[in-house]
This record gives sequence, C-alpha cells and structure tokens, in this order.
Amino acid sequence: MTETLTIKTPDDWHLHLRDGAMLRAVAPETARHFGRAIIMPNLVPPVVTGQEAAAYRDRILAALPEGSRFTPLMTLYLTEDTDPEDLAQAHDEGLITAVKLYPAGATTNSASGVTNFDKVRPVLEKMAEIGCPLCVHGEVVDSDIDIFDREAVFIERVLDPIRRATPGLRVVMEHITTMQGVEYASEGGPELGATITTHHLVINRNHILAGGIKPHYYCLPVAKREEHRLALRRAATSGDPTFFLGTDSAPHTDANKLLPCGCAGCFTATNTLSILAEVFEQEDALDRLESFASLNGPKFYRLPANEGTLTLTKGAPVEYPTQIETGDGPVTVFDPMMPLHWRVES
Ligand code: NCD
Ligand code: ZN
Repeated sequence: MTETLTIKTPDDWHLHLRDGAMLRAVAPETARHFGRAIIMPNLVPPVVTGQEAAAYRDRILAALPEGSRFTPLMTLYLTEDTDPEDLAQAHDEGLITAVKLYPAGATTNSASGVTNFDKVRPVLEKMAEIGCPLCVHGEVVDSDIDIFDREAVFIERVLDPIRRATPGLRVVMEHITTMQGVEYASEGGPELGATITTHHLVINRNHILAGGIKPHYYCLPVAKREEHRLALRRAATSGDPTFFLGTDSAPHTDANKLLPCGCAGCFTATNTLSILAEVFEQEDALDRLESFASLNGPKFYRLPANEGTLTLTKGAPVEYPTQIETGDGPVTVFDPMMPLHWRVES
C-alpha cells in the first residue's frame, strides 16, 4: 500500500531569493512547492523603501515559471533612517507584509542594519500601532560574545527589552537555533512567533566542524549543540502554533562558499519538503507537518491558509540534484545525509 500525505500548500516564512541570474535560477525551486514566501530584503543595496520593495516584487514575479501562482510577500530592511510614514504607507498599500531587523554586522549583507536600537524606536512604535510584524535576526554582534551564545544573549539584552518597551509589537524570532529561543518563543504569547529552518532540524555543530570543515553546513545563526537541535525538533513537531517553517534557504555560489572566508547560508529550497517529511516521520509527527509548514505561519501573519494542497508519497529514496546551475555559477543543494523517502507529487 502506498503511503501518502496531503497537506495544504505550504508557505516559507523566511526566504532569500537574491536578484538577477541567481533569482531566476532559485525562484522556480521554491515556487514549485510553496504558495507564498516572506522575501528577505538583504540585497546589495538593501530593500529599504516601499518603492524598492514593489520593484523587487516585480522582478521576482518576472522570474517565475509561466503559470506559477507563487506569491512573494515583501519585507523592508530596517535601517536607522527608516521613515515610519513611508513604512506605514507601504504596509497600508499592501506592498509589504513585514519589516526585517538585522543587527548591523550580524550576517550576510547586514551592514546597513541597526546599531543603536533607540534610533528605531519611533519606527517600532509605528509598527505596533499598525500591526506590522517585525522579523528579527536575533544575534548580538559583540566580538566578546561567543558565536554560539549570540542568540541567547540577544534575547536577554535586546529582544526582551524591545518587546517590553513596545507593547503590541508583533515579532517573529527568525530561524531560532537554541533551547533558549524555543523557551522564550513559547512563553511569548500570541504576539510572538518563531520560525525554524529545515537544516537546523538536521544538523548540529559537529556536522560543520568534526572530521573536516564543511562550508555547505555553515549558516547564521550557526548550528549549535545536539541538545539544541533536539529542542528545535520538539518545538517544530509539537503542533504549538508559535512555531512555523522559515527555511532560510540562502543560496550562495560554491565559489563564494568555498573561500578562506566563505559566505553563510544553506540552500534548501529544492529538497526541503522531502527532508521535513522525513524528520516529522522520525519524530512520529507526520500529522503535524501541516501545522508547521502550512497553518501556523498564516495564522501568525493573519492571512488565510492556502487553498491548494500538496501531496507527498512514500517510496524508494528520492534523488535530488547535488547542485543547481545558476547564471552566477553552481549552488550546492543542502545534503541531509539521510535517504529521503517522501516525494512531492507534481
Ligand atoms: C543569510 C544570507 O545568506 O543572506 N545567511 C544565512 O546564513 N542564513 C542571511 C541570514 O538569514 O542570516
Ligand atoms: Zn535568512
């Protein structure tokens, strides 16, 4: 008997599509399986105004395969110069769904992010007033804080004070990687959500560092100890509406990954759903995959779930390409180091 699983069409609540040739190569990988995605604004230069978000959205739509119904949900990159009124207008016109906060220097293309959080106070207050969610890259950047502690310290020193000072602000803790992240998110009430990536359910820091350095497993926030991975797996498969899928699929060419100072990011768009089904089955939670991938995200963002469905079928291991070709060079697809038995039906 064939085992199948049908879920509402999933969404990706944290995705990097880049621009130009890279965008054209990676957009179809996500559009094949997902209904919508929150599009990260960390282009060079970043997407900082409503107009720029609209222009970027049009470039994404132009990169989609003929007949695709994929909807990009745009974000603005918060800087210390963001104008609360421009932001409110872009939100009002439906140009943007959320705003992204990068602490300056925390990750790829975050140089224009925020250093002095007091400077963005009026913007955050405006966002609380209009109900526009803030997507947060939650890591401090202080060089004296160990990279494996940066998420936990951010929660204590930055995130919690911001939330206390801005009642009503709706926040998504993006790509959480620690048990502290899981705990803080699950106690945060309906105004706090958290995304979890596919790869952080699979790898811990040993996969990056033991037995030779593996640049394709390096991303930010960096994968932590095994106990944190297990906490993330419990959260993702719990059905708790706080937690939803944000793949953080972040393509970089192999040339840019395999450098003495290589880029952070794992590219998972191609095989994410097969990996997730495998992980949820391992956790005996296949019946909760739909909550994580298709229901909890829209609920937090106050959007309807997608109308369509996606079916996965269990069988002989599915082979995915190890790389995809892009006009900028090959991009390596995340290797989950396990056979994937769940195929997405087209
Ligand atoms: C992302 C990128 O490459 O843009 N990299 C990553 O490791 N996740 C940026 C980010 O989300 O931190
Ligand atoms: Zn990201």
